[in-house]
Amino acid sequence: MRTQVCIIGGGPAGLFLSHVLHEAGIASIVIERQTKAHVLGRIRAGVLEAGTVELLRRYGLAERMDRDGMPKDGTRIFWEGKDDFFIDVIRWTGRQMMVWGQTQITEDLYAARERDGAAMLFEVENVALHDVEASPFVTFEQDGETKRIDCDFIAGCDGFHGPSRMAIPADIRREYERVYPFGWLGIMVERPPMKELAYAYHSEGFAMASRRNPMLSRYYVQVPATDRVEDWSDDRFWEALHRRLPEHVHGEIETGPSIEKSIAPLRSFVAEPMRWGKLFLAGDAAHIVPPTGAKGLNLAFSDVFYLSRALITHYAEGSDHYLDSYSAMALRRVWAAENISWRMTRLLHVFPGEDPFDQKIRQNDFDLLVGSQDVQRAFAFEYMGLPFED
Ligand code: APR
Ligand code: PHB
Repeated sequence: MRTQVCIIGGGPAGLFLSHVLHEAGIASIVIERQTKAHVLGRIRAGVLEAGTVELLRRYGLAERMDRDGMPKDGTRIFWEGKDDFFIDVIRWTGRQMMVWGQTQITEDLYAARERDGAAMLFEVENVALHDVEASPFVTFEQDGETKRIDCDFIAGCDGFHGPSRMAIPADIRREYERVYPFGWLGIMVERPPMKELAYAYHSEGFAMASRRNPMLSRYYVQVPATDRVEDWSDDRFWEALHRRLPEHVHGEIETGPSIEKSIAPLRSFVAEPMRWGKLFLAGDAAHIVPPTGAKGLNLAFSDVFYLSRALITHYAEGSDHYLDSYSAMALRRVWAAENISWRMTRLLHVFPGEDPFDQKIRQNDFDLLVGSQDVQRAFAFEYMGLPFED
């Protein structure tokens, strides 16, 4: 087989890239290790930056989001079971975010790709990248047969555990990482959510209230990284959540039996560069953020925006300007998202071993935020994500 761009990974990054390239008349093949049902079964964060919302609209993927998504003006922060603070992001940035699930976006991407007759291969095994510096090709096995795709470029959209990043030589690749000593225990409940998405700091640990739709709530509490789901009955979960949220909002929490319960570890990770020869990384293949800022999907989309523009400019105008600047440009946005995600994680979680000095600094960070419009404006600017570069 031969194509212009071989896309490894059929998650949001790979699917969105193949969609945008198709609109520009560029051929691609997506190869995915799992089944489509498996990809759609993953549960992940769902807050979209205004830039992501605009990309979905521009590429005809926004119909359901505009009908069922919940526009979000800002973020509520509860503090020590007392303060109830709202950061008015739309006021400080003039831009509106959207609460809309990644699963739904991925469903809409698959629908669009199937409608357009996309080439997508599922349940591929032993994917390997070859000759990425000169004449790239990808080999893999499917239904017991070895197959090969020759291409002009490889897009590594295969998530944190995929093989693409490893195709960058070890002496070139640099990796930066923080692994946090706690995770998020999340539950899904078929009950109306709290009216606003809310983060909570409490000296017992972080908690959060989110939503999937008007009848489906998503809640989280911080737990030690060593805890297992079996340690957490529904009752224990609800008790912890209530203790960490102020009493005056308890009436907004509608409890019920959990229909899903899982623990997600928290990690910050960046691999540089994001390009090696004809190989370009996008999304979780190159970087991971802790979920605190809900930046993961937004970064995958902004990488794909930069990468698709670079490939389109290459084919349409014969200019490699954007291909050559892809890694540096994408990484500027990535590091800004890593920065705000790390600072929000530090602000809102209890770290084992922290001392009174750490606690005073955290309290002062919150006091500055509440007390200063300048600090609120700066926070809102970063929380919205950097604007795309020309
Ligand atoms: N061969 C083919 N496909 C692979 C391989 C492989 N060896 N390894 C992994 N994949 C597939 C995975 O099965 C997955 O479907 O690559 C896909 C990568 O998808 P994601 O992990 O969802 O990553 P990405 O598309 O970059 O989307 C980023 O996911 O983790 C969240 O918060 C993050 O929202 C962000 C989004
Ligand atoms: C979620 O809805 O799952 C969610 C929302 C915001 C976050 C993290 C997770 O920061």
